[in-house]
Amino acid sequence: MTAPENFQLFTVKVLPADLQYDVEGDLTLLEAAEMSRVQLPSSCRNGTCRTCICRLVSGEVSYSIDWPGLTPEEKTEGYVLPCVARPTSNVVLDQPEASAF
Ligand code: FES
Repeated sequence: MTAPENFQLFTVKVLPADLQYDVEGDLTLLEAAEMSRVQLPSSCRNGTCRTCICRLVSGEVSYSIDWPGLTPEEKTEGYVLPCVARPTSNVVLDQPEASAF
């Protein structure tokens, strides 16, 4: 059996703990982390509370909502909201509060 044409699999690395997990299909960075037993800070899970904010060291993401709770400056500086961000490449996040559970 072959994977559907639009199937995507990206790898996420989380610094500084050096945790790693995969994101399949259209899962968000947060959803995929939880499925891989990687704990990232979260609360609202809809892009408004900013509990999950962290910096994207490398890679690209897209958002499931039009305007996630980030200022234009934060976006320019590379901050992302993992609860509503989907990777469009392999990514590296800087989230000092991440841990394995
Ligand atoms: S958990 Fe609230 S903005 Fe991500």
